[in-house]
Amino acid sequence: MIMPDTGHALRVRGVSRNFGGLKALRDVDLEIADGERISVIGTNGAGKSTLFNLIAGVFPATSGRIELFGEDVTGMSTAKRAKRGLARTFQTSRLFEQLTVAENVFIALGGSEFRGGSLRPAWRSPSRWERGERLLERVGLREKGEAVVADLSHGEQRQLELAMALALQPKLLMLDEPAAGFSPSERTHLVKLLREIPEEITLLLIEHDMDIALAVASRVIVMHDGEKILEGTPDEIRASERVREIYLGGSLDEAV
Ligand SMILES: Nc1ncnc2c1ncn2[C@@H]1O[C@H](COP(=O)(O)OP(=O)(O)OP(=O)(O)O)[C@@H](O)[C@H]1O
Ligand SMILES: [Mg+2]
Repeated sequence: MIMPDTGHALRVRGVSRNFGGLKALRDVDLEIADGERISVIGTNGAGKSTLFNLIAGVFPATSGRIELFGEDVTGMSTAKRAKRGLARTFQTSRLFEQLTVAENVFIALGGSEFRGGSLRPAWRSPSRWERGERLLERVGLREKGEAVVADLSHGEQRQLELAMALALQPKLLMLDEPAAGFSPSERTHLVKLLREIPEEITLLLIEHDMDIALAVASRVIVMHDGEKILEGTPDEIRASERVREIYLGGSLDEAV
């Protein structure tokens, strides 16, 4: 029997994805050790979200192999991958907008039930209530538990999504542009939150904002036109001519 390799949260081997004639992802390899902090950067349409969707199992790879925690999950459903410890946020928000912040976290903690034909939070568990409060505290939303999600600022909604992903107690957490639409102060706050994510959680972050991508990661993957074109430490990425070219000749200086 082949023993699973427990040292790697994720292995992506020669993964490609076509959408009709479009090669959105071409022969991408990626290895992430347990506990690593990785940022994926790249311009619009580079294939970053497609890579996330393939890892999460939202749609199948056209070719290649994906391993989570040493296990081949290439043909496995999203739900099964989530059960194995994968959590992700989406580039666009997926919250229950008409419910309160606390109710959303409750649902993420598994405290939901169907009542009156729709999904409702189940209130009967004090320990779950406390866990929810701790999660809201961790993401800086302690005072907002009773607020209706639709009334939150954009930044607060993204913080809530982070709390909901953490509620799943993931081993691998994937965040797709968590700073999209953030103000500068919200960005600073987000970097702090991301740095405080427990060490045992492996983090894979897609981020347009260079400051954030380089501040949070120990290793950075650069995607361009469906391919992984570079991989290095934040310092190597800062020094890279190629990255500079891709990010419009020198604009990296302003971004870093
Ligand atoms: N479900 C889909 N159906 C058809 N084409 C898709 C689909 N998802 C992505 N694409 C295309 O694949 C390419 C890569 O898209 P992707 O969303 O992965 O890029 P991205 O790097 O996440 O870009 P952005 O920074 O704008 O979020 C794009 O040309 C996009 O239009
Ligand atoms: Mg994207």
